[in-house]
Amino acid sequence: MANQEDIFKKVISHAKEYGYVFQSSEIYDGLSAVYDYAQNGAELKKNIREYWWRAMVQLNENIVGIDAAIFMHPTTWKASGHVDAFNDPLIDNKDSKKRYRADVLIEDYTAKIEGKIEKEVAKAAKRFGDAFDQEQFLATNPRVTDYQKKIDTTLKRLGKSLENEDLADVKALIEELGIVCPVSGSKNWTDVKQFNLMFGTKLGASAESAMDLYLRPETAQGIFVNFLNVQKTGRMKIPFGIAQTGKAFRNEIVARQFIFRMREFEQMEMQFFIKPGTQQEWYEIWKENRMKWHLSLGMGSENYRFHDHEKLAHYADAAADIEFRFPFGFKELEGIHSRTDFDLGAHEKYSGKKLQYFDHAENESYVPYVVETSIGLDRMFLAVFSNSLQEEELENNTTRTVLKLPAVLAPTKAAVLPLVKKDGLPEIAHQIVDDLKWDFNVVYDEKDAVGRRYRRQDAVGTPFCITVDHQSKEDNTVTIRHRDTMEQQRVAIADVNRMIAKEVDMKSWLGKM
Ligand code: GAP
Repeated sequence: MANQEDIFKKVISHAKEYGYVFQSSEIYDGLSAVYDYAQNGAELKKNIREYWWRAMVQLNENIVGIDAAIFMHPTTWKASGHVDAFNDPLIDNKDSKKRYRADVLIEDYTAKIEGKIEKEVAKAAKRFGDAFDQEQFLATNPRVTDYQKKIDTTLKRLGKSLENEDLADVKALIEELGIVCPVSGSKNWTDVKQFNLMFGTKLGASAESAMDLYLRPETAQGIFVNFLNVQKTGRMKIPFGIAQTGKAFRNEIVARQFIFRMREFEQMEMQFFIKPGTQQEWYEIWKENRMKWHLSLGMGSENYRFHDHEKLAHYADAAADIEFRFPFGFKELEGIHSRTDFDLGAHEKYSGKKLQYFDHAENESYVPYVVETSIGLDRMFLAVFSNSLQEEELENNTTRTVLKLPAVLAPTKAAVLPLVKKDGLPEIAHQIVDDLKWDFNVVYDEKDAVGRRYRRQDAVGTPFCITVDHQSKEDNTVTIRHRDTMEQQRVAIADVNRMIAKEVDMKSWLGKM
């Protein structure tokens, strides 16, 4: 079996080769941690955004969507705490001169121990066969419980030191664990320092009058500052939500892992405004709702898990991540945060404007509490793309590369292929494209033998190939080939639209939630 690094390399090269993701400004050797979405990537990204928007805004009567500007008044970021507290702890290796996030070095260390646990499990599963009880093994095997204890105590200590801003202890932990620089292999570390992640820019024509601005590091603040406008103009009653998707910017210290951690990325966030005191209940509801949304895409429940935060962000009283099994292990895909009245309260204080809700049922005014769900669109893209990319052994001892994207998200729903480039078959195929294009993204492809065209569509992730052959001229039928099973069916041309619609319709996918 290929190792994690090889699989990840394959994901990155496949994304480039098949027109999904390119490095930004590649002709100038690229820009670190900035990427462009290509012709297929832009479609996949749009479909993921749409799948989220429909689930959030269209299917919930009490959630509306907005589109706030990237630039915001600079006091926003003072009030939100980002100017003072949106920092990452960084550490340099004096020999390699490489800079790292101190917490990531420690988390990578625990991830390696987790890998050892997974190896022990795999070994034991092989040894015990059907009689293997994984839960019991994890709870009782002395080597595994020792590993787990090491992970737990390390992460607990890291969480505590970060919460207490005890950066000396973070360095001490790195030294005690014997963590070495992946480049120089040495333990020659500097002290740990805080580094603010916001990008600054200027607004205004002349240097004297220019105003210092930040590029927003999260979309959420655009929602908080519009809370009262939306509540009043939309006549919203608590509990209600405001959703939005849009770009966010962070000057990440460790910008690696392709589109997992970028400097410019897109978020899909929803702030749910609630009565103070009900936050625990709503936090649990949104954790469950969001997990159901993920599972509706059929990417395997074993690939998701919750991770409750030890270290809480400056605004939260509870927080959990939905983690996904990326090619480099389980990592954060989405955050669910109980943000209390931190943000609205702070904006009230800094703006001097009341941001309160009058609750008619209770006959009182209050600053609402907020539970937020926040997912990175690019991270979701990587989850979908990497999970879908598969190498399959076929019966005739050959292999095929297939991108088994959930059909609802696939950039192109069908390819229409005339078996040969003559005998009137291209004309029929073009007519089918002209009929289908009103409802779906479809492509026409006549180049190469049909088998090669099937492989090409498998690799790009197209769920259906519609082949026009000589029989089509006789009886107005075509074959439909299904990407995942490679099965072919003979169907009437008149039925093709309905068959595709049944498989790609958002309603049936979201209906699984
Ligand atoms: N408003 C809350 C917030 O921004 P966060 O945990 O910092 O919370 C939310 O970010 C999500 O945004 C993450 O779960 C991740 O999916 C995505 N995200 C954060 N930083 C990112 C980056 N540098 N590149 C890509 N996605 C990122």
